[in-house]
Amino acid sequence: MCPPTHFRVTYSINPWMDPDKPVDSALALLQWEDLRDRYRALGHTVDVLEPVPGLPDMVFAANGATVVDGRVFGAKFANAERRGEAPAHLAWFREHGYRRVHEPEHINEGEGDFTPTASWVLAGAGFRSSPSARAEAQEFFGRPVIGLELVDPRYYHLDTALAVLDGDEVVYYPQAFSPGSQDVLARLFPDALLAAEDDAAALGLNAVSDGRNVILPVGASGLFEPLRRRGFEPIGVDLSELHKAGGSVKCCTLELRD
Ligand code: ARG
Repeated sequence: MCPPTHFRVTYSINPWMDPDKPVDSALALLQWEDLRDRYRALGHTVDVLEPVPGLPDMVFAANGATVVDGRVFGAKFANAERRGEAPAHLAWFREHGYRRVHEPEHINEGEGDFTPTASWVLAGAGFRSSPSARAEAQEFFGRPVIGLELVDPRYYHLDTALAVLDGDEVVYYPQAFSPGSQDVLARLFPDALLAAEDDAAALGLNAVSDGRNVILPVGASGLFEPLRRRGFEPIGVDLSELHKAGGSVKCCTLELRD
């Protein structure tokens, strides 16, 4: 995770971002600290990446890389405003002993685009990533990468429309995907939990699960009961300030799948 020390909305690269809307930076930091402390209270280790001045979106650490089996596939951001984040992430991984670190040739925004499940790596195909990055990632990870077409600009990254709950169990918002990709998802995940529009709009799919606890935005209230019925423990957090940049729990969390 990377603290929102320099977080502000100064540009707009997704439909949620309005530079004219004020952001309460002090509140953003408190909300972020609350998320970090909840992970720690659940027994998870949280490493903190040093924020860099002039990179206001760096709090969205999930975009910095994708890690599967300890292999680090670096990011290459679509927008100039975020490009400086990628080397900071790569440097962190190298300093922390990761040996297989790949500097990508093609545009991809880390876990914003790639979501590993037990069997596959799902990949969002929207306006922020290059199709060639999917082949590049498949070659590097040695796992099947499955492209899913994102069609609604509000769900510009795969992790705003789909979350892994456990293994190959997922929750997603079908309308964020093209008809063909909805069919692919139904084929791969016939028992998936489907989210309603309100919960998707509350960024409820931008969730992190450890296989038991599911941390998600508190506004996605419609997901709590269905998650409980499947044996998960939903934990709602308020990240209202970060929502103003189009990100929530998952965006703030890069998972180290070592
Ligand atoms: N403002 C950021 C952007 O548009 C939000 C990134 C959200 N991160 C994510 N993993 N979806 O790039």
